[in-house]
Amino acid sequence: MKAITVLPGTPASVQLDDRPEPGPDRNALLVEALALGICGTDREIVSGAYGWAPPGRDRLILGHESLGRVLEAPDGSGFARGDHVVGIVRRKDPVPCVACAAGEWDMCRNGQYTERGIKALDGYGAERYRLEPDYAVKVDPALGLLGVLLEPSTILAKAWDHIDRIGHRTRSWSPKTILVTGAGPVGLLAALMGRQRNHEIHVLDLAETGPKPELVRDLGGTYHTRRLPDEFQADIVIECTGALTVIADVMKRATVDGIVCLTGVSNSGHSLPFDFGTFNRNMVLANLVTFGSVNANKRHYEMGADALAKADRSWLSRMITRKVPLSRWHEAFQGRPEDIKVVLQFAEAA
Ligand code: BGC
Repeated sequence: MKAITVLPGTPASVQLDDRPEPGPDRNALLVEALALGICGTDREIVSGAYGWAPPGRDRLILGHESLGRVLEAPDGSGFARGDHVVGIVRRKDPVPCVACAAGEWDMCRNGQYTERGIKALDGYGAERYRLEPDYAVKVDPALGLLGVLLEPSTILAKAWDHIDRIGHRTRSWSPKTILVTGAGPVGLLAALMGRQRNHEIHVLDLAETGPKPELVRDLGGTYHTRRLPDEFQADIVIECTGALTVIADVMKRATVDGIVCLTGVSNSGHSLPFDFGTFNRNMVLANLVTFGSVNANKRHYEMGADALAKADRSWLSRMITRKVPLSRWHEAFQGRPEDIKVVLQFAEAA
């Protein structure tokens, strides 16, 4: 069978390989890949800057945003042939730490977690793969290809879950204005979930043309190109660019008692002049919380699935700006200016 593999640490090593079929395993589902979403993390792995092969091997099968169809399911697993499933990305660490032991592998304390397609475990970018039933999540087959948006949705479901928990430190919490920086898939899903909570949405992005401004407007939100009005402030900021100048700016944009959630991963080794005195003074005097959020646990997969189920399907489908067939797989890794979500299609989802 075909699989997309990389040599982690080596730039431009990505290729379509022939791999043996998955071996027998009476405890795991056998899944046929339908689609694979490509995200910034995949591009970083392809660039050689991130990613780890499984122990004892050189190459890693790439891919963590999955959508597959069950071919074989163990008796009593709760799954049946034909079910559409998405594979959870992270696996708990072997110790396990207290967080992983509680099923919160997204909060792993010792860093020994593994991640399919990213860290020490083969990913879902193969025509067929095995998936443990405990790490498989059913998606409504009526969603078709849109089911591939579940994994990125879980990242925002977690971010919103933690924002809600932090917000409830005060009994009077009633956020109104939300600022999302970045109108890529993560930013747009953050905005969608904010809208589903009836908040007033503002999204900042560089794009002046293409589908992003309209997608934000169709959510009932306000799209800001390149810069925000000088006095603009928001009760909640969800930062989805990882760009230093944007991060430095949003730190000043939260209202009193506000929350800033950072979801974008930046590269190390870049610095900006930063006034820590003012930062600390504002944090303390305005009861601000700035926190980071990564990955998602099973609860967030359920929350993400709910958000997708409630969303307008035609709006969601406009987020998928390119569907690339496996025969032209390399095009999926070439970013284009108007891309939002690029999906590699293994088979027809309908
Ligand atoms: C994935 C997360 C993962 C993170 C860090 C993201 O692209 O969606 O599941 O934890 O990368 O590896």
